[in-house]
Amino acid sequence: MRRYGIRSYNPGDAEAVASLLARARRARRLAFPLLPSGLDEKESAARIVASKTAGSAAAGSAGTVATGSVSTVALGADGSLQGFLFVERKEDEIWGPSLRADVNDWALKAGTEALPELYAAAFGPVGEGLREHRVLCPASDETGLAAWFELGFGMEQAYAMARLEDLEVGSAKTKGDFQIRRAGPGDEENLESLSSLIAEAQAGPPVWAGAPAAYLAELHKGFAALAGEADAIVLLAFRGARPVGYQAWFPAEGDPLDGAIEGGVELAVGATIPEERGRGIGLALSAKGIALAQASGYRTCLVDWRTTNPSASSFWKARGFRPFLYRLTRRLP
Ligand SMILES: CC(C)(COP(=O)(O)OP(=O)(O)OC[C@H]1O[C@@H](n2cnc3c(N)ncnc32)[C@H](O)[C@@H]1OP(=O)(O)O)[C@@H](O)C(=O)NCCC(=O)NCCS
Repeated sequence: MRRYGIRSYNPGDAEAVASLLARARRARRLAFPLLPSGLDEKESAARIVASKTAGSAAAGSAGTVATGSVSTVALGADGSLQGFLFVERKEDEIWGPSLRADVNDWALKAGTEALPELYAAAFGPVGEGLREHRVLCPASDETGLAAWFELGFGMEQAYAMARLEDLEVGSAKTKGDFQIRRAGPGDEENLESLSSLIAEAQAGPPVWAGAPAAYLAELHKGFAALAGEADAIVLLAFRGARPVGYQAWFPAEGDPLDGAIEGGVELAVGATIPEERGRGIGLALSAKGIALAQASGYRTCLVDWRTTNPSASSFWKARGFRPFLYRLTRRLP
């Protein structure tokens, strides 16, 4: 086994770390040209490193740069940078605390085997008692994915995109005995009645995500508010007077550093009641959403799903969405 020198980040590493990060970011955009052009800019990588490591000059030998965050680098025998990993403790009132490394929080030199040591050093100091580790990995980075899988991580969430004009909605199947229309003020109860569909689909096997009462209450409140979302495309499907499905499309949020995905819209949530699935309602909602989004000038669509949720996973892939990013999770016993 090769050994690497692992130590905390110090400001003298900034240039080499930024250069490794810039290469990883360019590779992401090469694989997905629809991602923001900021990924190609070397200066963005330098700014990210500066923001993640602010205060590291004053940090102690453990490399702790802020409460609950650690930045670590791996060096080869010749002192060259093999990789870096920044990790942060994040709190979540409903789902509990976790340790996370975002997609810009790590990068590895090609061919290096330094990840296990980096992981141990970075997650160790902030990981005491914390059983949930999360990492975002580009879908195009097969070596990175394999390295995280070897460390016990598994796929949890896929973040995908497609050009609206490329989406496959099988128009022949969307002529069912149901009606689709845009939601608006007065639809609060209709939307509330559908608010728990995704959570319920993901509470049991094979997702086993659970559905805490606080989460369901938050969804209930959020769905009523969808009726008044002027910027969103919120669609409802009805069988007679009964709401049986919905989709909500929002302007895609721009990344503060990389900028927005040009003409980006996010299909944030969508579901059909269990007894109406497989009858074309999801396709019809998608077809209408695509048409309205295109009429509003959108060109690229984002969507994300639990990879263990079979209906979402197969439905979005069959529409033509390709994952560009995965959230990987490791839950310790
Ligand atoms: C994913 C989901 C929204 C799809 O909605 P739906 O109303 O069942 O979707 P449809 O009936 O239009 O399409 C489902 C499948 O049935 C097929 N289908 C639809 N109508 C059909 C018909 N008349 N004849 C044959 N096949 C048909 C579709 O082609 C599709 O298969 P494909 O994806 O392989 O092409 C739904 O399964 C759901 O609510 N799942 C749980 C909640 C969830 O996971 N939401 C997504 C969160 S990210």
